[in-house]
Amino acid sequence: MRTLIKNGIIITASDTYKADLLIENERIKAIEANSGAKADSIVDATGKYIFPGAIDVHTHFDMPFGGTVSADDFTTGTTAAAAGGTTTIIDYAIQTPGKSLQDALETWHRKAEGKCAVDYGFHVAVTDLNDDTIAEIPDLVAGGYPSFKVFMAYKNVFQVDDATLLKVLKKASEAGGLVLVHAENGDVIDVLTGEMLSAGHTEPVYHALSRPPQAEEEAVNRFITMADLSSAPAYIVHLSDAGALGRVAEARLRGLPIYAETCPQYLFLDLQCYYEADFGGAKYVMSPPLRESGNEECLWDGLASGNLQVVASDHCSFNFKEQKEMGRNDFSKIPNGAPGVETRVQLLYAGGVNGGHFNLNRFVDLVSTAPARLFGLYPRKGTIAVGSDADLVIFDPDAEFTISAKTQHQNVDYNPYEGFSGQGTPIYVFSRGSMIFDHGKYCGAGGHGRFVKRKPFAKV
Ligand code: URP
Ligand code: ZN
Ligand code: ZN
Repeated sequence: MRTLIKNGIIITASDTYKADLLIENERIKAIEANSGAKADSIVDATGKYIFPGAIDVHTHFDMPFGGTVSADDFTTGTTAAAAGGTTTIIDYAIQTPGKSLQDALETWHRKAEGKCAVDYGFHVAVTDLNDDTIAEIPDLVAGGYPSFKVFMAYKNVFQVDDATLLKVLKKASEAGGLVLVHAENGDVIDVLTGEMLSAGHTEPVYHALSRPPQAEEEAVNRFITMADLSSAPAYIVHLSDAGALGRVAEARLRGLPIYAETCPQYLFLDLQCYYEADFGGAKYVMSPPLRESGNEECLWDGLASGNLQVVASDHCSFNFKEQKEMGRNDFSKIPNGAPGVETRVQLLYAGGVNGGHFNLNRFVDLVSTAPARLFGLYPRKGTIAVGSDADLVIFDPDAEFTISAKTQHQNVDYNPYEGFSGQGTPIYVFSRGSMIFDHGKYCGAGGHGRFVKRKPFAKV
């Protein structure tokens, strides 16, 4: 099966040029101007951009958390991802204390197998380190799982101590792995949460007030210090705060291999959301929380300057009804997380490119190329080159969109960006050469998405 995409404007992290793209057997076969190649189908991309499929390295589908399970499973989550132009996701397989890391991977493989609309991989979240589980790390890196997550927050749930952080950093880096961290000081948050609840403060805004920016900055700094001590590369997930970003920038200036992602919610939403009437603030309960208005300017600057390398969604959806409502009388019982896998690319294009923060090439780097390089997928994914997987997004820069829960593919009863409108939207999405979205309609074959083994970490 050969598909020819004609007259599009190809955008990679480094180049912008007009050419035709020939796809054969799931891969890009040729890139040339005015191609006369014969094909089974021809797609006209005149006036449209062609991006490498976007890569979302931070999702939580079918995840047990906060006394419930996230609302999107691997079918709905990856379909929503594809609708938004994302053709690879990396989810978190979370270790059950007392069990092995391999057991976590088997559990998450069962959740995903045969259900995914796009390709997928797994990070391994370490919650219970002992002699046996630490010994699993080298084999996991070699087996296609080169990234490990540790939590400095969620006390008595996922949080690990400093000794564990240090040991995982050392072992993973020796084996060619990258350690990812949720950096907030869980002990500080635990004390502040208790104080707020004792004072009768139960509303959603107290979720944010019990997790101040200092709790994030301190944890980021501590983790960077431990990474430095271990000569290990490290990656901070969902960085939300200007102070924390300052610590990353300082470390990078010293030449340390420290990387960080932020997410659209920290660029587009702020603390005021928690005051939405009728318990509406619960929709935005996530960790780290939304910050004061103005903070986002530093994050946009970080994306433009290179101190932030990746934009991921941290998609972790919970319905407002029955799930977020679990915390009506106690903000600490609101499940943490929000949807965003479908809207990440559109939002970043609207805010970043149309908003004048960076150019098209930097946009592609943030949503596709840098995640591919950092997480061992490049150049199979994350670029448009002969031999790469034909994961492609044909993007209409003039098409208008309005975000709404009524039209989304995400399986959740609200959208945090309800009513947000902008310009620029994917019109065709290809996964390994198969068209899976056509003007907002899913046209893929169920279970097309495959597990992708990733390569060990290489410094970028
Ligand atoms: O609130 C969030 N971010 N929920 C998902 C789990 C995590 O911490 O990434
Ligand atoms: Zn987290
Ligand atoms: Zn997360």
